[in-house]
Amino acid sequence: MDIEGLKARLAEANQEHLLKYWDQLSDEEKQQLYAELSHLDFKEINGFFKAAMEDLNSASEKLDDLLEPLPKEVWGGVVETSEADLLQYDIDGLTEIGESRVAVILLAGGQGTRLGVPYPKGMYNVGLPSGKTLYQIQAERLLKLQRLGEKVTGNSCKIPWYIMTSEHTKNATLDFFKKNNYFGLEEEDVVLFEQNLLPCIGFDGKIILEKPHKVALAPDGNGGLYRALNHSGVLKDMEKRGIKYIHVYCVDNILVKMADPIFIGFCLSKGATCGAKVVEKTFPTEPVGVVCKVEGKYQVVEYSEITQKTAEKRDSNGRLVFNAGNICNHFFTLDLLKFVSEPAQEKQMKHHVAKKKIPHVSDKDSKVTIKPDTPNGIKMEKFVFDVFHFATDRSFAVWEVIREDEFAPLKNADTADKDTPTTCRRALLNLHHRYLLAAGAQFVDKDGKVLPPSSEKEDIGGGDCKREDQDVVVECEISPLVSYAGEGLKKLVEDRTFSTPVYLDQDYTMEEPEIVEGEW
Ligand code: UTP
Repeated sequence: MDIEGLKARLAEANQEHLLKYWDQLSDEEKQQLYAELSHLDFKEINGFFKAAMEDLNSASEKLDDLLEPLPKEVWGGVVETSEADLLQYDIDGLTEIGESRVAVILLAGGQGTRLGVPYPKGMYNVGLPSGKTLYQIQAERLLKLQRLGEKVTGNSCKIPWYIMTSEHTKNATLDFFKKNNYFGLEEEDVVLFEQNLLPCIGFDGKIILEKPHKVALAPDGNGGLYRALNHSGVLKDMEKRGIKYIHVYCVDNILVKMADPIFIGFCLSKGATCGAKVVEKTFPTEPVGVVCKVEGKYQVVEYSEITQKTAEKRDSNGRLVFNAGNICNHFFTLDLLKFVSEPAQEKQMKHHVAKKKIPHVSDKDSKVTIKPDTPNGIKMEKFVFDVFHFATDRSFAVWEVIREDEFAPLKNADTADKDTPTTCRRALLNLHHRYLLAAGAQFVDKDGKVLPPSSEKEDIGGGDCKREDQDVVVECEISPLVSYAGEGLKKLVEDRTFSTPVYLDQDYTMEEPEIVEGEW
């Protein structure tokens, strides 16, 4: 350990307090702190802090005058598109999948503080009949898509799954996949890579110590993706495998259509290098970022960045003018991903600042970690969508989908009103119920009474969450291995009557689906 060298670096950066407890540390703790501090580039971090605080303190000017709605040419929507065109997009997307030219990137490095469980969000079980976790649902969607792609091209194909983790989620995620045999995927096709951590910083610019031998560190945001891609060798791996198109998504959307062939097919039809899937923003004050143009460049603008008057603007059809709600579902060509991940571009992405309550070592007793009641510092995060402006006018595409079909994020514990395990479970059960109705099934309750399409019923069962007296949906779940998005169900359920709950079961070890009825 070059402790003198470290001291000099810290002095230069005005961060000497990080060694305040050095003499009290055990040898092991010294090693740990030394290793942590040696990895930090204090000059860079101080620069990030300065820029972030300037941003935070600048009287945030509203963007209203600079805002333009999306041009018609880049936009498409599932509702407005003809059946024939949807089918063509689907085939085009599946062809790319079948040729092994599509990969997915999962953003799974977040700390999931609002949900508040001590393990990665992807391991969460929202209490479906199958008891599947988010990771398992996603793994099975990929397996199924591989089979659908193979059907279209006749080739055997792979969709490599790149999972960005952070120090907080890496080991648990890896162990979980190993323990579950990668849910039937090939181990070599599930590639974990790690995002960077940044220190949490007090309002005075001093890096916060969580413990005497530990800096308070947090992942650098889901926009840390680009730096992580550059450092991890993932881009080279993609090149080696012949990947051309990438779908990037968040771990917490239980309805996510990973590598959605229709979205891919649409983006290809537009010649897009970058695309965003969106849902309609429904009311002006809804706290969702909208995809639009600012000074001619594509961008996601938060509600807080515009005035209410602009947020309330409507077009002649009564729809909000700025209504393309961002759901963190992005398409990239590998070429664009490589370009934006180069340091010259990546460094242009600003850090967003969040004031947070950051646990820190007590001044009075270094053995105690204080959890403050009010914010005592900041976390700095980059956002994954902050690269849209690198796409030129003709190479951007926006695909609007139906919220109920594709977006139900898990953000909060069940004590909250929205984006909870309960709302996620209901969203998935509801969607699967609609798939089965569309395929010609009918449902009866335990007394033989036919259930209407959307019924209210007491929800029961296990999972990682509290589940009682929730008015829910008809309980139907379909394994992704039976159907990726409602296809192929007719032959199984048409003209059949089921008593709920119904589970169309299949895992990677089963040749054929099995229908489990009336049990949970
Ligand atoms: P959120 O912003 O909702 O954060 O992440 P979170 O960590 O899941 O939850 P909170 O805010 O602590 O309660 C949206 C997506 O971005 C990923 C998350 O894993 C999630 O898929 N993410 C977030 C990262 O991959 N890295 C980060 O540094 C932050």
